[in-house]
Amino acid sequence: MAEERTQVVIVGAGPAGMLLSHLLAADGVDSVVVETRSEEYVAARIRAGILEQSSVDLLTEVGLGDRLARDADKHRGIYLQWPEERHHLDFVDLVGRAVYVYGQTEVQKDLIEARRAAGQVVHYEVSETALHDIESDRPSVTFTDAAGIPQRIRADVIVGCDGSFGPSRVAIPARESWDRTYPYSWFGILADVAPSTDELIYAWHPDGFALHSMRSESVSRFYLQVPNGTDPATWSDDQIWDALAARLGHGQNGWSLQPGRISDRSVLPMRSHVSTPMRHGRLFLAGDAAHIVPPTGAKGLNLAVADVALLAPALAALLKGDPRLADDYSETALRRVWRCTHFSWWMTTMLHTAEDPFDTQLQLSQLRWVTSSEHAAAGLAENYAGLPIGF
Ligand code: PHB
Repeated sequence: MAEERTQVVIVGAGPAGMLLSHLLAADGVDSVVVETRSEEYVAARIRAGILEQSSVDLLTEVGLGDRLARDADKHRGIYLQWPEERHHLDFVDLVGRAVYVYGQTEVQKDLIEARRAAGQVVHYEVSETALHDIESDRPSVTFTDAAGIPQRIRADVIVGCDGSFGPSRVAIPARESWDRTYPYSWFGILADVAPSTDELIYAWHPDGFALHSMRSESVSRFYLQVPNGTDPATWSDDQIWDALAARLGHGQNGWSLQPGRISDRSVLPMRSHVSTPMRHGRLFLAGDAAHIVPPTGAKGLNLAVADVALLAPALAALLKGDPRLADDYSETALRRVWRCTHFSWWMTTMLHTAEDPFDTQLQLSQLRWVTSSEHAAAGLAENYAGLPIGF
């Protein structure tokens, strides 16, 4: 078995893992990243599209902000709507913070580029990844590399950034978890058409929730609430555009939805999941390995960024002999995780059509409140635009 040695082995080369390797390098800490997928797959997968102010600030501070500054679209807020009503919430006026439209795909490309320029070792397309001796101060990760050769990386610390299906989360022996599944999914499409709106529209509708998002001046992103188990191939393009037009309010107050060529379609299940603790011995978890939020509110990527922003200085200090930040990591990170878990659940349950007519009235009452009371609107804005890292 081939052996390598580093300070931190990072399992997973998504945004959490790659950003962590970048932040650690800035603190003088060496890492090696292992990833089951190919670099092309990781760089192309379509995920979230919204960065909070604090994520943008962090990426900019650590030298990852060039393309972001040029290409990200700054949004002052969002639209919330239900039939016959559309209201703009201006986060900048409400809480002094904005959000940015910049796809996770773009963040991932920037990270790959920066880490390649710095000579970061990333083993892509590995299999049989296993974690060893996490309760000792000499843990290791074994895997079979892309060429079929068994490898072992010895390190001081392992960080699991490998999502909810990776080997890291389940390596924590006494873990507790909290779950909520929702009785609906999101049908997401990407379309080659200019957005029909300047900022995102979150729409409550009796037929189900719809979201108009975007990726660029010429690419729009849409989501429709659909029943769990929906096969995306069973919807024709016309059915998709008709549903989006109805739910987003085509024809209301002169607003129209411009359809276009659909370049990608997929159905995403919605779930909330929190797994604790986020550390056991020399294994730490960050991002989706420890928590999943439903996408309403765009918190997933931002939470991963916040985790690694806390973890990088904690690990740098630990490796220099000061364990205090590392000892506090799980508790500190989980405060923000639970805040975002609540916010994502709240946005989800406020906007997705429920079976129960009582729930419907509560949803509409809630929507009227957050769009007419400045105090309620500020609460939504504070959570959406993002609480400070370390909240
Ligand atoms: C997206 O553009 O993919 C997106 C935007 C806002 C959300 C979720 C997803 O709340």
